[in-house]
Amino acid sequence: MIDNVDPQVGTLPGSIQAMEAEPPVSTEKMRYVLESEKERRRLEVQAGMLEPFTKRFLAGAGLSNGMSILDVGTGVGDVAFLAAEMVGPTGRVLGIDCEGGMIKRAQQRAHAKQVENIQFQTGSLLPGEQLGKFDFVTGRLVTAFQPDQVDFLRRVVSRVKVGGSIALIEAGWNLCGTWTNPTIPAYDELIERSLSLIETLGFDTQLGSRLTQLFAHAGLGEPSVTAELLVGGPDSELLDYSLLNFENLFITARKRGLEAPDETALNLMWAEIRKAATASHVQFSGPCVVGAFIKIN
Ligand SMILES: C[S@@+](CC[C@H](N)C(=O)[O-])C[C@H]1O[C@@H](n2cnc3c(N)ncnc32)[C@H](O)[C@@H]1O
Repeated sequence: MIDNVDPQVGTLPGSIQAMEAEPPVSTEKMRYVLESEKERRRLEVQAGMLEPFTKRFLAGAGLSNGMSILDVGTGVGDVAFLAAEMVGPTGRVLGIDCEGGMIKRAQQRAHAKQVENIQFQTGSLLPGEQLGKFDFVTGRLVTAFQPDQVDFLRRVVSRVKVGGSIALIEAGWNLCGTWTNPTIPAYDELIERSLSLIETLGFDTQLGSRLTQLFAHAGLGEPSVTAELLVGGPDSELLDYSLLNFENLFITARKRGLEAPDETALNLMWAEIRKAATASHVQFSGPCVVGAFIKIN
């Protein structure tokens, strides 16, 4: 890990940040409602599935050797680790997250992996945060959680050097429309129920399909967009990932007084779903992941 960050790259202990103009927007500290040990594990599994797309997308967006990178909403650090590999030893990566528990795990992982060109710290792009400017700013599955996405995107832009790029990845659950083929009604119902709970908790399940509009509303030009649909059969990683999603979401929903299946009910449904999937060789479709990037001039 890096302790002293190059001023051109990441954290600056109170120097040029004072001169940075912040957009006049909300100063409220963001909290991540899904935050838990289970969520940290879920993020690692999810990251494994999203890695090939993320790597291709970031390379296509221009992330390359020697750059300074900011990963906003880094979670347990997976996009940051990928970026650190891509920028090589002459580049630097800073991952920030509003949740201290996420950052602690990311730091432990950086230490275990002995990654030298990476640093993690808590942060939410709020006014007064000492971050500096970067060649490239990215954020995967973080904008959808923001109460004001345009405000958030403007903050992201405020951290990019002139001539640098921003690149966001978000899910667009409506881009697929078919969850199982042949159909397993119990699974389709679980997905629909989850999407509705996610929306009730205040998250945007469709942002991936509206990134072009979001960029326009933030005063940017038209981004380059690309997408990948996650699919898999009865024994696929996608199905294990799906179960983790349901478990985590339902626990969070119940804690907040919302109606959702408990662990026993979910396990019973899941056993039936797996049986039906194996019997009919069902193909599952998960979320579509969409990437959008643009150069900031
Ligand atoms: C779904 S996770 C994605 C984590 C990571 N980007 C990945 O793809 O593995 C969203 C993360 O964004 C963080 N987060 C949400 N809003 C944030 C904000 N305004 N500033 C910083 N972090 C934020 C959450 O704490 C959480 O760790």
